[in-house]
Amino acid sequence: MDKKRVFSGIQASGNLHLGNYLGAIRNWVKMQNQYHNYFCVVDLHTVTVPQDPSVLRTNIREVAGLLFAAGIEEEDSVVFIQSHVRAHSELAWLLNCITPMGWLHRMTQFKEKSEQQKEEVSVGLFDYPVLQAADILLYDTHLVPVGEDQKQHVELCRDIAQRFNYRYGDVFVLPDAYIPPIGGRVMGLVNPEKKMSKSEEKRDDSIFLLDTPDQIRSKVKKATTDSLREIRFDEKRYGINNLLTVYQLLTGKEPAEIENHFTGKSYKDLKEQLAETVIETLQPLQERYRELTGEDGYLDDMLARGAERAEAHAENKLQQVYNKIGLR
Ligand code: AMP
Ligand code: TRP
Repeated sequence: MDKKRVFSGIQASGNLHLGNYLGAIRNWVKMQNQYHNYFCVVDLHTVTVPQDPSVLRTNIREVAGLLFAAGIEEEDSVVFIQSHVRAHSELAWLLNCITPMGWLHRMTQFKEKSEQQKEEVSVGLFDYPVLQAADILLYDTHLVPVGEDQKQHVELCRDIAQRFNYRYGDVFVLPDAYIPPIGGRVMGLVNPEKKMSKSEEKRDDSIFLLDTPDQIRSKVKKATTDSLREIRFDEKRYGINNLLTVYQLLTGKEPAEIENHFTGKSYKDLKEQLAETVIETLQPLQERYRELTGEDGYLDDMLARGAERAEAHAENKLQQVYNKIGLR
């Protein structure tokens, strides 16, 4: 039987962090041989908020390099840069013309981001979820593995696809989100009530995938805990719960086993062991990253092959859409 298709995207805003890894990338790697996969560095989404051109150019390659370094393989997965495949912008336009504004007004991520940006908010930021729908629908995607914050966007994509199919006949596959049972929302270290993010201002909240061992130790040491001195999973104790959850995800141990292991130990012990576990996880990834970016042209060649393979599928789908609408 034919394998089902997976699509997911990641922004090129630099500073990939442990939340991106545990909520998304690690699952992409684990699932990849069961599916046909498309993993996309969504640079057109990234420019919905202001970017410095030379920093952006560097970040795009860094994110792509980290995907391969984390274990995405060309054999199972097509990795490419969104702006290299024109069909994404073209389909986004066509979907714009059937998507009611009211649907976009309901998107919580837009509300959050536009509050931070005030008058600077671009039309692109408002339209962000429609471009995301185009990404997903171009590849006849069945499954979209993402962190919890993207659930609403995938549901909107499904609604847009349904509306199109109803109006013009079956063209699009209706996708489902895949959110991991744990790790779908890794929280900040200093502010464990907010999710871990790429933000430079909140550097100490996030462990970045390219952080050095010393940076990791220092950040984990500064993580917020509480005054209870008891190492137990408890969703109401945000700080300790988050540290334990990350430890659980990285070691693959059961919660009871972890609680036993830390009985009678201090928060300092927990933090030290967690920091070393993070360092051990990231070390091989960082080594592979240095290898594959150290060799001139290696990464660019992989991305050129990726764009070519993605384009073959995307163009075909786009032509079907033009045809249905009456533009061809
Ligand atoms: P982004 O960097 O915003 O493009 O996100 C890339 C992927 O990482 C998406 O699937 C997000 O849902 C996921 N993600 C981002 N932040 C977190 C977090 N703190 N915890 C879990 N998943 C996250
Ligand atoms: N909006 C997603 C995020 O910020 C990135 C994204 C763009 C995406 N297109 C996508 C995720 C398609 C999944 C599928 O994380």
